[in-house]
Amino acid sequence: MTDEHKIVKIGDKKYISVNCQGCANNASLGNITCFRKLAQKIRENPEADNIIFNRSYKKILNEDSFRILKEYLDSVSALPEAPNLCDQCFEKNSIIRFKLQEDPVGSILYLIDLVPCNDDEKYFKSILSLFEKTRIWNLVKKNKDKYKENELYHIIFRDRILPGFVTFFLEPIRNKVKTLVEYKISGSDVEIYEAKERPYPIYHVELNELNLSRKELALLNKAFIRLGKEDFNLDRSKIICEKIIDELAPELDAEKKKELVETLNRYSFGYGIIEVLLRDPNLQDIYIDSPGDRHVYVYHTDFEECQTNIILSSEELEKLSTRFRMLSGRPFDESYPVLHADIKDLKVRIAGVTEPITFSGTGFVFRKHNVQPWTLQQFIANKMISAEAAGMISFLIDSQKSMLITGPRGSGKTSVLGAVLAEVPQKFRIITIEDTPELPIDELRENGHNIQHLRVKSTLQRESFEVTAEEALRNALRLGESVLVLGEVRGEEAKSLFEAMRIGATGNVVMGTIHGSTPYDVWDRIVNDLKVPSTSFKATDVVISCAPMRFGENIKRNRRITGITEVKKYWTTDPHKENGFFPLLVYNKSKDRLDLAANIRKSPLLADIAEKKGISMNDVLKSIKARAEIKKAIVEASKKNKKLLGLKFASESINKFLELVKLQGKRKTDYAKLVRDFKKWLKEYNRRC
Ligand SMILES: Nc1ncnc2c1ncn2[C@@H]1O[C@H](COP(=O)(O)OP(=O)(O)OP(=O)(O)O)[C@@H](O)[C@H]1O
Ligand SMILES: [Mg+2]
Repeated sequence: MTDEHKIVKIGDKKYISVNCQGCANNASLGNITCFRKLAQKIRENPEADNIIFNRSYKKILNEDSFRILKEYLDSVSALPEAPNLCDQCFEKNSIIRFKLQEDPVGSILYLIDLVPCNDDEKYFKSILSLFEKTRIWNLVKKNKDKYKENELYHIIFRDRILPGFVTFFLEPIRNKVKTLVEYKISGSDVEIYEAKERPYPIYHVELNELNLSRKELALLNKAFIRLGKEDFNLDRSKIICEKIIDELAPELDAEKKKELVETLNRYSFGYGIIEVLLRDPNLQDIYIDSPGDRHVYVYHTDFEECQTNIILSSEELEKLSTRFRMLSGRPFDESYPVLHADIKDLKVRIAGVTEPITFSGTGFVFRKHNVQPWTLQQFIANKMISAEAAGMISFLIDSQKSMLITGPRGSGKTSVLGAVLAEVPQKFRIITIEDTPELPIDELRENGHNIQHLRVKSTLQRESFEVTAEEALRNALRLGESVLVLGEVRGEEAKSLFEAMRIGATGNVVMGTIHGSTPYDVWDRIVNDLKVPSTSFKATDVVISCAPMRFGENIKRNRRITGITEVKKYWTTDPHKENGFFPLLVYNKSKDRLDLAANIRKSPLLADIAEKKGISMNDVLKSIKARAEIKKAIVEASKKNKKLLGLKFASESINKFLELVKLQGKRKTDYAKLVRDFKKWLKEYNRRC
């Protein structure tokens, strides 16, 4: 151990980080030179919570072992003054005092067997009373006949080894009350547990992939140094890593080589520790707050917000920033402090911020898209929406009405938009405009939807080769009649969108998501913030509101669609004052249900649709209810066959519904028969699959 050390803060703990590079000793408490130096450093830094030895690997003492060590050193510091001793006891005392400074196990063994003379017994007893209470004493006493002295060091002072290139920290399990769940992700163990006095469950990762021998770790370190001399080329990363490992250790067997290549790749070109989180299908969001050296938080599907045991250093955050800059081809530095990008293969959207927007350092939020796209049926099954509301949405889409989906952050807007798209009859062309692709475009396409995706640059990005949302929108309008979908309405493009809607240039439906809470908020944002004229805003036919709901004392948040509201056409300046909104469905919190409004027959929008379709209001309601009943039947049948909740069946069922309507051929649809025929087909379908 060299004399160099620094204090580093990781999470809420302070570590003495000792530089052991170039030292001939082995960074071990069992080494007398190391121990003397270490004891001094601990005394000089009484506030330290633990110690890290930095060699070609990092060695971190277990927290409990550090406490044992501190307790021992405290006892050494409290040694009483020695009185005049007999010659023999004088020698014994010298040995004790010397040994205590450099060899804790050896000195305890010596003390256990110590026999003083009668005259000096009192003094030695006072020393013994200092140590007999300590944990090291008990551990040495308990194990001394089973193990050799150097083995005792390993039993008492346990440590964890991390490769030197690892720039994150994993905390050990602390104050566990109850394990909630355990599973494996890419070879690493995940345990979620409740901990004492912690408001969140702890998401604990144990990285088995880094349990390599010291020889292998040294090899990896060399490989990292070699990597620095190679061109950083993402496409060839695996080949580069293979070449280096091959050159450095040609003698290794194929399996070991593969393991080392993967580790080298993941911690150089890949996403490092974060990859475990990115690959966990149970996580929805991952939060890394600036300036680093803090816990990473995640949002888990079952346990909601969890604190992980992962702490990333600012070095690790810098590595991630470089990786995302390369991945996106977008700048991310002081002049461009916001980054929006996506990791396609892992279906993850990244939002990064750095100085000067943050006070210091870099932070990231990762939003993972549901690998299985949501459908209205799935939303009915998990109570996000009632069957009646799903029937209404399906009816409004079929009637080519424009809708905006609103809600606070993470309330499910984009998920709802994706599910709504699955309801669009396949004869329509869909054009989506997004800066980071989140909508299930590929899946919709695979299921027969005619969908064109226009990728645009983020509104926060000042320069890039991608087109702006507004340009994309203008192009989309030139493409002719289509369902126009704006992933998120937030910038300049809003004006063009609403203008297009107002003059009916888009032909069919326009859809988008927008942050807000109520239809009034949406109006306020669009008209007052985005400067769209109120008359143009009225081109929106309905606003669907999403919100996280809490029931009773339960702290769990449940996502719900809490309203479907019509935007009426005959008002001029303020929809609130002029009664410009008409709730089509109203949420009843005590029953947790979204019901058709009692006065639904008075809806101008439904009356208008009825008139255009040449049907009565009764038929409008029958059509909505028939759609609701069909969806309810699908959800019921899905209890035995989960596939029925998927996107593929959602598209198939819409096609079937339209086919059955067409088959009836009459001007007036017999809805009862329609539902009967659909249920028959569903039964048959379920029997076949
Ligand atoms: N009903 C639901 N039940 C459980 N999870 C849901 C539900 N709806 C959406 N989610 C999940 O919630 C997360 C956030 O959803 P989504 O991205 O749709 O929200 P958003 O409102 O668009 O967020 P943002 O404001 O960031 O754009 C996603 O992981 C999604 O899969
Ligand atoms: Mg969204």
